[in-house]
Amino acid sequence: MTEKRLTIDFIEYSSFEEMEPQDRELVAAALDARNGSYSPYSKFRVGAALRLVDGTIIKGANQENIAYPSGLCAERTAMFAAGANHPGVAFDTLAVVGGNGDEVCEMPAAPCGACRQVMAEYQRLYQRPLKIILIGTHSTYKFSKVEDILPLIFDSLKVE
Ligand code: THU
Repeated sequence: MTEKRLTIDFIEYSSFEEMEPQDRELVAAALDARNGSYSPYSKFRVGAALRLVDGTIIKGANQENIAYPSGLCAERTAMFAAGANHPGVAFDTLAVVGGNGDEVCEMPAAPCGACRQVMAEYQRLYQRPLKIILIGTHSTYKFSKVEDILPLIFDSLKVE
């Protein structure tokens, strides 16, 4: 038996001014994307902004449904919109922000497991690390690849 440990590196920003201009622009887009949230059931409004390698920014927001499981998270609305409308253009960075009503969470929004798995799929498809920015008013985190928020990714149908 061997005890093992996984560690991850990420950046914590305590103010948006510390971020690179491109990332600040993405944060602003994610905050703006919350205006598209349709969340009458949870009242939790989530915005996502995805930068593609060609510089295009695609916005997404959570869309709920009276049949609860039929709704979709902000991250997946953005990623699927990009996949559907810009096929073949790799993803560069995905920024996410959430909060109740008009408020924004102090601590970074944490994407659900299903959204992380979808991030992993596009990262694998495009063979390019997808950076992730999780926004909070107190702290914002930046990760340099999906493995950092989804260790031990399921990404192979082969038996080794
Ligand atoms: N939600 C997102 O849009 N993204 C996440 O990362 C977590 C949760 C949405 C789904 C639902 O509309 C609401 O937030 C409450 O779970």
